[in-house]
Amino acid sequence: MTHSALTPGRTAVITGAAGGIGLAAARRLAGLGLNIVMADRNADALHQAAAAIGSAAVLAEVVDVSQPADLVRLQAAATAHFGEVNLLMNNAAIGKNPGKPWENADGWHELLGINLAGVIHGVQAFVPAMLAQQGPAVVVNTGSKQGITLPPGNAAYNVAKAGVKAFTELLAHELRQAAPGRMSAHLLVPGFTYTGMTNAAEHPAGAWSADQVVDVMLAGIEAGDFYLWCQDNETARLTDERRIAWMAGDLIENRPALSRWHPDYAAAFAAFVAKP
Ligand code: NAI
Repeated sequence: MTHSALTPGRTAVITGAAGGIGLAAARRLAGLGLNIVMADRNADALHQAAAAIGSAAVLAEVVDVSQPADLVRLQAAATAHFGEVNLLMNNAAIGKNPGKPWENADGWHELLGINLAGVIHGVQAFVPAMLAQQGPAVVVNTGSKQGITLPPGNAAYNVAKAGVKAFTELLAHELRQAAPGRMSAHLLVPGFTYTGMTNAAEHPAGAWSADQVVDVMLAGIEAGDFYLWCQDNETARLTDERRIAWMAGDLIENRPALSRWHPDYAAAFAAFVAKP
């Protein structure tokens, strides 16, 4: 059975829709007969992408998700054009690495302003009207496995995605109380996915396509799953589960932070992951 928010004539708003996962979602949902509002800060790419979808029921809005007023304007444009919004996908993000925790305050501020605050701005602009409307309303926030297992590298990105996870879990709980059965929130957790963010000329063997991520997203919404967990071609589900369990074990077992990458724990971690 198709989720009632995903049926023809409903309306979806997607940020970061000019490329990658957001564009794949826009294409798929347009194909299902939904009205689509595509938002991105890259005006040229956005207008090209919207034109390529080739549907009359597509509205393109240039929006910077780090600016709360842009999301308020987006919400007004979406409802003026199509009426109530049934699916909000807060998906825009950047992958640029601002550096170590003590470096580049401006770069950290920029990344957190887009990747974390951008999601919060979307929810704050859209959810009040979604609570007031009659029709179904689904919020999907795009997180990342990096926000769960925190692999060292881009600390700011991991902090933002960990925040998106916590924010979306709390949002889902609140919506369950506020609009039981009619509204829901979901955390999309892509693995390694070939998009503009991948920075590769060709599709790496280990990466999924954006369309595969959208397959998981739609099937998970229909199944009522909160965690829309994606695999990729390099990490098996069981390995992901062991990494998550090990991470939780750091606190329970009083191990050093991120012990998975601590030389004294390398052998124990390898044995834990390899357990039959
Ligand atoms: P992408 O770079 O192809 O798409 C991101 C889109 O967001 C771009 O069109 C960009 O112009 C837009 N954007 C960036 N800053 C913006 C802002 N301030 N306001 C409005 N739009 C803005 O990348 P991709 O991979 O499709 O990313 C989509 C989501 O998936 C992101 O949240 C990303 O963090 C997440 N993700 C991606 C993974 C991957 O391997 N590609 C893995 C895990 C999560």
